Amino acid sequence: MTPVDPGQPPLPWWKGGVLYQIYPRSFADSNGDGNGDIRGVIEHLDHFSWLGIDGVWLSPVTRSPNADWGYDVTDFCAVQPDFGSMEDVDQLIADAGRRDIRILMDLVPNHTSDQHPWFLESRSSRTSPRRDWYLWADPKDDGSPPNNWVSSFGGPAWTLDESTGQYYMHNHLAEQPDLNWWNDEVREAFDAVLRFWFDRGVAGFRIDVCNAIIKDADLRDNPPATAEDDFEAQMFGQRSVYNANRPEVHDVIRRWRRIADSYDPPRVLIGETPVHLDQLGAYYGNGDELDLAFNFPFIDSPLEAEKMRRIVAETWMRLPEAAWPAWTGSNHDMSRLATRWAKDDPRRARVAVLMLLALRGTPVLYEGDEIGLPNRHVPHEQLRDPLGVRFWPHYEGRDAMRTPMPWRNAPGGGFTDAGVTPWLPLDDPGSCNVEDQRTDPGSMLQLTHDLIHLRRDTDDLQDGAYRPLETDGGLWAWQRGGGHLVAVNLSDDPASLPDVSGRIVIATDRARDGAELAGDLRLAGWEGAVIALGAR
Ligand code: NOJ
Repeated sequence: MTPVDPGQPPLPWWKGGVLYQIYPRSFADSNGDGNGDIRGVIEHLDHFSWLGIDGVWLSPVTRSPNADWGYDVTDFCAVQPDFGSMEDVDQLIADAGRRDIRILMDLVPNHTSDQHPWFLESRSSRTSPRRDWYLWADPKDDGSPPNNWVSSFGGPAWTLDESTGQYYMHNHLAEQPDLNWWNDEVREAFDAVLRFWFDRGVAGFRIDVCNAIIKDADLRDNPPATAEDDFEAQMFGQRSVYNANRPEVHDVIRRWRRIADSYDPPRVLIGETPVHLDQLGAYYGNGDELDLAFNFPFIDSPLEAEKMRRIVAETWMRLPEAAWPAWTGSNHDMSRLATRWAKDDPRRARVAVLMLLALRGTPVLYEGDEIGLPNRHVPHEQLRDPLGVRFWPHYEGRDAMRTPMPWRNAPGGGFTDAGVTPWLPLDDPGSCNVEDQRTDPGSMLQLTHDLIHLRRDTDDLQDGAYRPLETDGGLWAWQRGGGHLVAVNLSDDPASLPDVSGRIVIATDRARDGAELAGDLRLAGWEGAVIALGAR
C-alpha cells in the first residue's frame, strides 16, 4: 500500500474526504413524532465518525409549508420546528466539529414558497416594492401564459394571479415561485443568507437547481425538442434553453464563491447541476465557481462497464484542469443505488460502492447506501411526494427513496419509537439495518467502512491519477496513482485481467482480502477489488 505521504500538502478536506447526504425527515426521530430531526442527527454522529465521513449535507431544515418537503422555503434563516431549533443546529455543528465532521446545508435560491413573506408582498400589487423579486409577466392577448415554458414538475411554468392579472413563473410547483435573479436586491438578500449560515460555522452549501436560477431576460420561447434530444427534453417537448442554463448564472455563482472564499477555512459550494457533460465544466469556472458539481449523466447511467467507463473518461476530458468531480449514485430524487444501479442484487450494490469509493474525485453517499438499502414501495394512499400524488400510477414519485433509515431490527426500526407511525413507511428493518451489519464482518456496512478507511489512509486512492486500462465485456479496470489498481466486473460472466502482480487489499468477496496475485486477476460476476500493485 502507498501510505499517505506526510511531506505532501494535504488536499482540501472535501477533496480527500467522503461526503454523506442526510434526508433529515427520514434519518432519525429523537422525539417520537414520526419525523426525523436534528437531534436525531446529533445522536448518530458516532455512526459518521466510525464510518469515516468527513462532511454531511442536510437536505433543507429551514422553514417550509412542505408543498415540496422543505424545498419550498418561507424563511431561509430559521429552522423548521419539526426538525428542532437553531440551538440544535448550533449544537450539531459544534458536536460534529469535535469529531472533525463538517456540516453543509442546502441552499434553495431558485425559488421560495408561495407563502414566503417576499412572495406574499410581491403578489399583493403590481406596484409592490417586491414585485420585481419574482418573475411576473402579462398574459398573451388570448389570455394564455407569456411563453411556452413548461415546469419540470409538469404543466405550464406559469400560473395566473387573478387579483393582479399577471402570470408568475415557476420551474417546479405553482407553490414554488421562481425568484428574479436579475434583481440586485434578491442577490443581496442571498448574500446575507450565505453569511448567516457561514457565520454559524456551516462548512458549505449544496445548491438546489443551481443551473436554473437565471432565466432569459426577454422570456423567449424554448425551442421544440428533436429526435436527437435526451429523454427529458422529449418528454417535455422542448429544450430548456431559456428557462435554465443561461450564461449569466455564472456571475451569480462567482459572487457566491467570493463570499465562500472570504471565510477561513473557505466554505464549499456544491451544485445540483443536471446538465450534459459538455456543459458541466462551465460550472467550475476558472476555479472561481463551484467546488463540486453533481454529475447527472453518471448517476443516470446504467451500471454497465462500457457506459460508465465512457462517462468517467468524458468527465475527465471535459472538466477544466483544476476541477474535481463528485461521484454519487443515489439521492432523494434519483432513487437509491441499491435499486436503480444494482436492481436489488447485493453483489451489484457492493461493486457499485467499491467503484464510487475508488474513483478519483469526491464520493457522495446518500443515507442508506452504506447498508445497501433498496427503495421501498410506498402504497398510493401513503404517498407524500407531490409528484407521486400528481402523477400516480404513471409515476410513483420520490417517496420510495425517502423512506426512513433502519437503524436496528426493532419496532420503529430504531428510526422512531415502537408504536409510532413514521411519516413514510419503514421497510422491514429485519432485512437490512445498521446494527446487524455492524457486527457482521462480511456486511455491506463493513465493506463501506473498510473502503472509506482504506481511501483515507492511501494517497493513491485520494489523489492518484485515474488511468483506465484496456478492458472489454463487463470488466472496467483503472489504475490509481503509481501503486493501486481497481477492477470491477459489471456483468454476470466471469472476467479476468492479465499480468497483475500484487495483493488484493479489499474485494467485495471479503474472503479474498489479502490474497497475493501473480498472473491473471480473476473476478466472478459482479465482483470488484482494490489491489496494491507489486506488494508481494
Ligand atoms: C431539486 C431537489 O433536489 C428536489 O427535491 C426539489 O423538488 C427540486 N429541486 C425543487 O426544489
